[in-house]
Amino acid sequence: MTTGKTAKLILADGKEHTLPVTVGSEDEHAIDIRTLRADTGYITLDSGYMNTGATTSAITYLDGEKGILRYRGYDIEELAEHSTFVETSYLLIHGRLPTQSELATFSRKLVYHSMIHEDMRHFFEGFPPGSHPMAVLSAMVTSLSAYYPDCLDRDAPAELHITRILSKVRTIAAFSYKKTIGQPVMYPRNSLSYCANFLHMMFAVPAEPYEPDPVIVKAINQLLILHADHEQNCSTSTVRLVGSSGANVYAAVAAGILALWGPLHGGANQAVIEMLEVIGDPKGPYKGDHKKFIAEVKDKKSNQRLMGCGHRVYKNYDPRAKILKKMADEVLQHLGVTDPMLELAKGMEEVALKDDYFVSKKLYPNVDFYSGILYRAIGIPTPMFTVMFALGRIPGWLAHWKEMTEDPTSKIGRPRQIYTGSTTRQYVPIEHRST
Ligand code: CMC
Repeated sequence: MTTGKTAKLILADGKEHTLPVTVGSEDEHAIDIRTLRADTGYITLDSGYMNTGATTSAITYLDGEKGILRYRGYDIEELAEHSTFVETSYLLIHGRLPTQSELATFSRKLVYHSMIHEDMRHFFEGFPPGSHPMAVLSAMVTSLSAYYPDCLDRDAPAELHITRILSKVRTIAAFSYKKTIGQPVMYPRNSLSYCANFLHMMFAVPAEPYEPDPVIVKAINQLLILHADHEQNCSTSTVRLVGSSGANVYAAVAAGILALWGPLHGGANQAVIEMLEVIGDPKGPYKGDHKKFIAEVKDKKSNQRLMGCGHRVYKNYDPRAKILKKMADEVLQHLGVTDPMLELAKGMEEVALKDDYFVSKKLYPNVDFYSGILYRAIGIPTPMFTVMFALGRIPGWLAHWKEMTEDPTSKIGRPRQIYTGSTTRQYVPIEHRST
């Protein structure tokens, strides 16, 4: 909110400029520079947006120093313990927890929009074997806009599109997995809850009955809740930026999926397991010696990073990683799985938490450090890990898209730059150019 507070800026020519200060509900302060260029001719330069608030938002609060994450005011620990992914999605999108009847209506809509147009099933056959499921997911979400062309009408209600995306991404994700392993796709079963239905589409086969394990259903709910929103991260900012041009919601969400794919963002969960596999490989360069790998990470010349560690915002233990570490122990024990990767990851965490390199840079395990170990234990293959992140992040993207499109003050996102290229020069005909 705007307060009477101001900040003073003294420019290179000595002129003073007064700027308003905006304060958030958790006492976060921002210098409001919206009139800066018009008043002074200056812009601000902040590559990577380390200090730039792109928007005000009422969805998620994050305090990286204290390790706090809240959706609409509710602590992530409480939601992971007591809520379901469907209820948390409602909370993020609509701004408050639903009543019983609101939740029942919301769940029913998600049940009845889970199928994809039968023609879309044939799209999966067009992808080459070994296609990354994030390529398939993003292409399919974009394709949904062709089946629901009313999404192009910016004045039409968006609720049905929001429901469709939230419901159908599960089906698309599971179908793309079935295609990679050569099994027939499993259609959704309306009697199952959101997460149980996802497990059914992933792991059931037509030849025999399948009942999802309630412990795993709970784990999937928790995993998706932990990923459901994270304020203005790279993919969410992408969704807002694409959406700000008036592009439809399917296009905006597909762009978010693509931004998430990168190994510095959601792709890190896949990269963590691949890293652990290389370290643990008895024939590999480390032969299980994680200290040797950590030494390499600390060597600036190596270009090696400890994947699943460090965060732009968290300068303390990521609260999501804390929950996931505990969950990994519980789920693996329930399944009777002993995964040497879990012990390796814990060993690496222990070394990193004591090592001056990581301590001084405030690098702690993030959400991706333990999530892959859980997915593996559940039977989800490594290339699908980032898809799982995307399934979780869908309600966050939708909530941000909705918040932005409903805000009458929203403008198209269009940063400026400081040009560093040549100043004006004259065109030289090709026969007169020297090398
Ligand atoms: N291993 C080793 N060194 C690291 C790491 C790491 N994982 N992360 C950061 N550093 C060092 C980095 O080399 C730099 O050192 P110096 O100041 O000496 O140059 C310093 O810490 C600051 O790093 P940065 O890259 O400038 O920080 P950033 O805020 O731009 O990057 C990050 C954040 C998440 C991209 C980075 O920590 C990283 O690459 N982590 C590994 C990838 C990863 O796990 N990503 C998932 C993030 S959580 C899921 C999500 O929300 O996307």
